[in-house]
Amino acid sequence: MFKRVAGTKDILPDEIFWWQKIESASRSIFSTYNYREIRPPIIEEAALFNRSLGEFTEVVQKQMFLIKNQQESYALRPEATASIVRAYIENSLDKTCGFSKFYYLGPMFRLERPQKGRLRQFHHIGAEAIGSSSPDIDAEVISLADTLLKAYSVEGYELKINSIGCADDKKELTKILHKGLAQELGNLCPDCNARFNNNILRILDCKNEACRKIVAKLDIEGNHLCPECKEHFNRVKQGLDDLGINYRIWPHLVRGLDYYTRTVFEITHANLGSQDALCAGGRYDNLIQELGGPDLGAMGFAFGVERLNLVSTMALSLTAEKKLVFLITLGESARKEGAKILARLRRADIPCDTDYAGKSLKGAMRAANDLGAALVLILGEDELKKNVIALKSMASGEQKEIRLEDLTKELKCSGPTTADSCP
Ligand code: HAM
Repeated sequence: MFKRVAGTKDILPDEIFWWQKIESASRSIFSTYNYREIRPPIIEEAALFNRSLGEFTEVVQKQMFLIKNQQESYALRPEATASIVRAYIENSLDKTCGFSKFYYLGPMFRLERPQKGRLRQFHHIGAEAIGSSSPDIDAEVISLADTLLKAYSVEGYELKINSIGCADDKKELTKILHKGLAQELGNLCPDCNARFNNNILRILDCKNEACRKIVAKLDIEGNHLCPECKEHFNRVKQGLDDLGINYRIWPHLVRGLDYYTRTVFEITHANLGSQDALCAGGRYDNLIQELGGPDLGAMGFAFGVERLNLVSTMALSLTAEKKLVFLITLGESARKEGAKILARLRRADIPCDTDYAGKSLKGAMRAANDLGAALVLILGEDELKKNVIALKSMASGEQKEIRLEDLTKELKCSGPTTADSCP
């Protein structure tokens, strides 16, 4: 028997309802903020990610799903920001649209060790605002993430923000860290020892207790920021204050991808355990130019949908939303007439189904119940002769006879669909 690949998940029909609600709430909110959907491909040249995320990042070093042949090396995308910037440049969107706001939903792939909230195929819901360096956009993007979380019925989350500064500031921070940590190499974990030489900023958010204690002693609270980056960060904070968004300044937040500059943020939830980031993002002012485009600023974020699923309390009233009508036919002529009735109801947009397994009346009623049907129609030889059909409410158990020609109208008016659709 085949099994699913480790770190992947089957999203079964009973669960899909939550996903569809999350997706439709997202689409609706994105559109009120004037973000438009973009769907880049799932595979890209691997070099795109090496270049944008950084050769020495964990994602590029250890987590890429690579597809190689003799000439090319492709990767299943580990994230979508790089693809969207590639698409923005390749399709000259800077010339046709200028400042552009995009959103996306879809699967991402990272070859990680699976655990709670950490998968090898997971889903992002993300936004990218490309073409502006204004701190107002940082505040808008963060407030958009906050609005989405409210729509997803997630409570008890924490927003952490920081500024890592421009490219020069990042070099300055790197210097400060090299100086402050050189004497501590023997006390840092093996991963941080490797990071010391090629990705030192990541030492700041190492989860190892010993590393955390060492890092806590470093005086890095914004000391590396140039006056422009300080001013930018002040304006972001002011923008969030004006919008009434709660946040905490987190001087050790650096994020794991090299493209970030200036504002970075993370939204965490205590109930998630060690993989506690629900959403993460920030500014990437050099990436567009780095990938061959114009010198434009940009800012975005991505939610991990599987992690949202672990903390969202969105109420699911499956039966109320489904409003299914289930038809039970008794006998051959009723079965034939039943097929025509189903076709008629479906043409009128009434969701309906029947039993295809030749069940008894009792068995078919059970099937209707299992499917969460709101109403059951029963058609036997007697009903056929009288040109009627029995209509039973699953909630009240009440049953009445309806003339066949009145059935569609009856279901539209009093049945599973709303009164507004009543002709
Ligand atoms: P990221 O922090 O790598 O950022 O991923 C964003 C979110 O995806 C995380 O906060 C987490 O919720 C979820 N996530 C990441 N890896 C996994 C995994 N293995 N299993 C389940 N969920 C996961 C980015 O990808 C950036 N592209 C975000 C961004 C957009 N920055 C600017 N624009």
